[in-house]
Amino acid sequence: MGNCKYTVNDCFVIDLGKHHSQRKGDLTVVENGLTIPFDVRRVYYLYDVPGGAARGSHAHKALSQLIVAASGSFTVTLDDGHEKRSFTLNRPYQGLLVRPGIWRDLDDFSSGAVAMVLASEVYQKEDYIRDYNDFLNFKK
Ligand code: TYD
Repeated sequence: MGNCKYTVNDCFVIDLGKHHSQRKGDLTVVENGLTIPFDVRRVYYLYDVPGGAARGSHAHKALSQLIVAASGSFTVTLDDGHEKRSFTLNRPYQGLLVRPGIWRDLDDFSSGAVAMVLASEVYQKEDYIRDYNDFLNFKK
């Protein structure tokens, strides 16, 4: 599928599963080729986001991502130019799969929230679409 063709319905929460260790906490695993439909080339995380702040406000031309609330909670609103879907992430064993060509806004960060992002590519400035009208043109 062309990267401009993905819709918000191609994006969904993946249950990553949880290994429970009796009285020693839980553990969640993400493995290339098994858990998610892309190989991970980069991991980054957002933290210390002030209450009321918003992040994101861009789309990617080619990048796929899995967004995980490693701690706390926040809301991710996805937009394919026709339809929007909002997801509240608040479980470290769930990840939101975001396909290329989807505009995303992140807000409602709880205190102590950590948004961990697993990405299919290394950082490339040219992969970002930061202007909403440019995004709508990309989707045409
Ligand atoms: P980001 O939060 O994507 O941009 P914005 O501040 O516009 O919301 O990125 C913040 C800064 O971090 C920006 O200067 C680019 C840099 N950055 C990297 O160097 N590598 C990365 O993988 C990412 C995601 C950001």
